[in-house]
Amino acid sequence: MWPDNRIRDLFGIEVPIIQAPMAGSVLSDMVVAVSEAGGLGSLPCALLSLEQARKELETIRRKTARPINTNFFCHQPPRDDPAREVGWRRRLEAYYIELGLDSKTGVPSSSRAPFDNKMCDLVMEFHPEVVSFHFGLPDKNLLARVRRAGAKIISSATCVDEARWLEDQGCDSIVAQGYEAGGHRGMFLTEDVATQVGTMALVPQIVDAVKVPVIAAGGIADARGIAACASSKSRASLK
Ligand SMILES: Cc1cc2nc3c(=O)[nH]c(=O)nc-3n(C[C@H](O)[C@H](O)[C@H](O)COP(=O)(O)O)c2cc1C
Repeated sequence: MWPDNRIRDLFGIEVPIIQAPMAGSVLSDMVVAVSEAGGLGSLPCALLSLEQARKELETIRRKTARPINTNFFCHQPPRDDPAREVGWRRRLEAYYIELGLDSKTGVPSSSRAPFDNKMCDLVMEFHPEVVSFHFGLPDKNLLARVRRAGAKIISSATCVDEARWLEDQGCDSIVAQGYEAGGHRGMFLTEDVATQVGTMALVPQIVDAVKVPVIAAGGIADARGIAACASSKSRASLK
């Protein structure tokens, strides 16, 4: 028996499993499959154009009436910084030479777009039950619009300070994203990797620090990992 029903009640889902949004790897078919199975399917939109996101959302809404999550990045797009570029090129030069690579090759530009008014219009149109953010939250006006659309709002925290910050901004739930999390983690209050701990250490720390329900992410690969996270009740309720 699952010990805590808050996530199921909050999102209106049957099983407390949230499919990880993975930009570049997940489209409508996986979202539909997970939501139809009783979990929360998540559409990552950071790499999608407005038209692609609309197409995926139309497909999802046509194929399932169950709750879904749409996921967006809130990062600051990188600025050109010639001094920094010279620095890292100098530092890595020996490796370029060793591997026979051209150290003058241009830097690929990022196609990851942060959440903006146009994507927010899409949220207002398709009314996803949950909207999740990565790398913090959008500005207050955008966040208020998402809330007016009726969505529950979540974001990921990689340390206790980030979790407290997200709760203060009104998040309904927080993803505790441990060091093991694949691809990348959504650090946003610090760039210091020394603040980053593993999932099994992070989840109880965040559960103790916030009142909203916490979602564990990072290196959970089977039922034993799920059971380990589920046992992470707040210290107060253990007394
Ligand atoms: C390929 C890949 C892409 C990802 N893209 C996103 C994304 O677009 N948005 C997001 O919030 N998290 C993203 N993540 C993080 C996942 O949602 C999740 O937190 C993480 O994968 C959990 O760790 P695990 O892979 O060890 O299970 C991505 C992870 C991977 C592996």
